Amino acid sequence: MSAPQSAGVSGTYQDDPPSPHAVMELSTGLWAAKTLSAGVDLGLFEYLSAFPGKGVDEVASGLALPRRSAQLLLTACASLGLLRREGSGYRNEETAEHYLIADRPYSLTGWIALLDRSNYAGWMGLSTALRTGRPTTWDSDTQESLFDNTDPSARAAFWAGMDGVSRYTATRLGKAVDLSGVTRLLDVGGGGGAYATQLCRMYPGLTVTVYDLPFVCEITADMVADSGVAERVLFAPGDFFADQALPGMEAVLLSMVLHDWDEQECLSILRKCHAALPSGGQILISELLLDDSGDGPVGAALMSLNMLVETAGGRNYARGEYCAWLDSLGFVDVRVVDFHGPGSNGVVIGVKP
Ligand SMILES: C[S@@+](CC[C@H](N)C(=O)[O-])C[C@H]1O[C@@H](n2cnc3c(N)ncnc32)[C@H](O)[C@@H]1O
Repeated sequence: MSAPQSAGVSGTYQDDPPSPHAVMELSTGLWAAKTLSAGVDLGLFEYLSAFPGKGVDEVASGLALPRRSAQLLLTACASLGLLRREGSGYRNEETAEHYLIADRPYSLTGWIALLDRSNYAGWMGLSTALRTGRPTTWDSDTQESLFDNTDPSARAAFWAGMDGVSRYTATRLGKAVDLSGVTRLLDVGGGGGAYATQLCRMYPGLTVTVYDLPFVCEITADMVADSGVAERVLFAPGDFFADQALPGMEAVLLSMVLHDWDEQECLSILRKCHAALPSGGQILISELLLDDSGDGPVGAALMSLNMLVETAGGRNYARGEYCAWLDSLGFVDVRVVDFHGPGSNGVVIGVKP
């Protein structure tokens, strides 16, 4: 009997193709994401935090689920590394304890709820977004930008979601960069107040002014009221496109702001930041920076694609693009300081001569 013929990639049979597992895993990535968001939505991690070690029957009755649902969800969450099997029961892994319970300082439950509420539906239309170049999470015929949403609960959900991602990221930035010489920082598009509160906690001599749209300043004032540093978080309501000038400060921060806008819009914001700074003042741009090589990293590349789904003209920009913009505006000592956060992998810094 002769050995089977290899027909190559275009035929029907090949002896030794590469493993399909990576493609299979990508194809079911949505299942994993939805397992996580359903676990959060149903309060699974909160239940197991209060009652560690409970088994399928108790979880089913505690969460008012059919037994089969509880069993499948528990097994899936354990397989994804969110839960740990303990005897006949389950308990939260440490990451679930930190990030999947609502009242924890670095909770990501607001972020996960935001994705579930509006973002995933937009991603379901990714091919449409790619073909048309238009966002799919909001109607660009009737709304001017992502931030025009008039639904109060959607507004609250957006800044609660951002807060979860940005709190941890802000502490990473505050450790990566020494801000001890700065007393007054302008947080442009600083809605949610995560950077303002975290940096004020880390730097007792610092006052942060959040410059954002008037309704966002109102939401943010409520969000920071109980932060313990509210007296050092000030507000300057405004619109960085409509306003001629931004309030003058020693340093300006832009976190996850520029990726919402196209290149001309970014340069217009950056020009106003430059004008607002004194000689020696610093600009800090915190983003998920793309590599100049155009092939990653994956977090920045997918956030960039997310900007297609979520914005009219935004994308994540590469390190070299940001540096070139700052150079062209006359900033000196332009450099990137790397760090690792969910909302940023580095900060581009420039100094006004
Ligand atoms: C993606 S969020 C980033 C929030 C915050 N910097 C962070 O990293 O958590 C973008 C912010 O830009 C603000 N923004 C959008 N358009 C603006 C405008 N025209 N003027 C001022 N702020 C604006 C939004 O309200 C929002 O707070």
